[in-house]
Amino acid sequence: MDTVGVGIIGAGGIAAAHAKAYQMLGAKAQLIGVADIDEERARAFARRFEIPVWSSEDDEILKRDDIQVVSLCLPHHLHAPIAIAALQAGKHVLVEKPLAISLEEADAMIRAAQKAKRNLGVVFQLRFESDVQRARLILERGLIGKPFYAEASCLWWRRPMYYENTWRGKWATEGGGAVINQATHHIDLLIYLLGMPQRVYAEIDTIAHKIEVEDWCLATLYWDSMKASFCASTCAELEADSSRMLILGANGSIQMFPFRPHSRQEERHLQIAEACRTVPEQDIPGHTAEIHDFVFSVVEKREPRVSATEGRRALELITAIYQSAFSNDVVQLPITPESPCYTTAGKLEMARRYTAQQAERI
Ligand SMILES: NC(=O)c1ccc[n+]([C@@H]2O[C@H](COP(=O)([O-])OP(=O)(O)OC[C@H]3O[C@@H](n4cnc5c(N)ncnc54)[C@H](O)[C@@H]3O)[C@@H](O)[C@H]2O)c1
Repeated sequence: MDTVGVGIIGAGGIAAAHAKAYQMLGAKAQLIGVADIDEERARAFARRFEIPVWSSEDDEILKRDDIQVVSLCLPHHLHAPIAIAALQAGKHVLVEKPLAISLEEADAMIRAAQKAKRNLGVVFQLRFESDVQRARLILERGLIGKPFYAEASCLWWRRPMYYENTWRGKWATEGGGAVINQATHHIDLLIYLLGMPQRVYAEIDTIAHKIEVEDWCLATLYWDSMKASFCASTCAELEADSSRMLILGANGSIQMFPFRPHSRQEERHLQIAEACRTVPEQDIPGHTAEIHDFVFSVVEKREPRVSATEGRRALELITAIYQSAFSNDVVQLPITPESPCYTTAGKLEMARRYTAQQAERI
């Protein structure tokens, strides 16, 4: 297969980034169809990107033989059912983050991909940034020594209007707030760079918005020999959204963003600089790079660089954070199918009880 036919389901905010990325591939990818329950939105999107087929029915995309790859740019609660339908229809599926709203859904998606022998990927575009690759190389080579402390913070602001979009701000449809939506990228980076923690303690709150879900979270993550502090926000009124990662090792440190690796030992510092130079500067944005990788993974019959398994790992840590906040207790990983937050129903029930308790306290 030298070229792939592409369909996009969901023509809202992020979908244009997908369409532009596919268009940049020239003859390697052909945008064939777009679907959105909002018919006018699908039509306008098709017109803007010169897509021949548009519909308010997802099936019009799924039933076409000339479409092999489908991008899902949908509300979070629709990722699992529509991904599973697309996989069953024989499509390779790239889902926007988060993979799903519960691990039960994520596992059903992964099983459907395995059964259909199709690729299932999730968008975590930061992994494609050169500085993230550099940080990973520094850690893999042990150049800052053994990490003992990390900080990841996503101090972002979202206007009240952001939550007027009806699927956002609700446990049943967004699956959570700042943690699962915005800071999912930071959670993924923590796991990508440092591995999965063993324990989590988290608190969530709703500070500035009239929403069910959290706009603030503070958590401590514990590995065997290191700890991290994590915070997520859509209520931080800073001049500009701020994302920060810090990793302290026995012999040096890495800070992002901006990227500033450092060691006080001159020789190590030089080794770090040398390692960084071996990673070429990425000339396209991470989001575009990931979509291109997904197309190439289909053409080359290989796994995408960010597979659903990676999306599941981030979701597992997110689930542990919510379970800890709901139960006001430390949560051990892994989250098993017996864990109270594993299923969508279990998570929603815990969220309901937590919200009721919070309301009583006020
Ligand atoms: N990777 C990133 O940095 C990034 C940035 C923004 C959003 N996102 C993700 O992209 C996804 C979509 O977010 P958004 O901001 O574009 O949301 P949005 O609300 O702007 O768009 C969602 C679209 O889906 C459509 N839709 C709803 N139900 C549908 C159905 N059954 N079939 C077809 N279309 C349907 C809606 O009409 C809407 O046009 C989310 O998962 C979000 O987290 C990722």
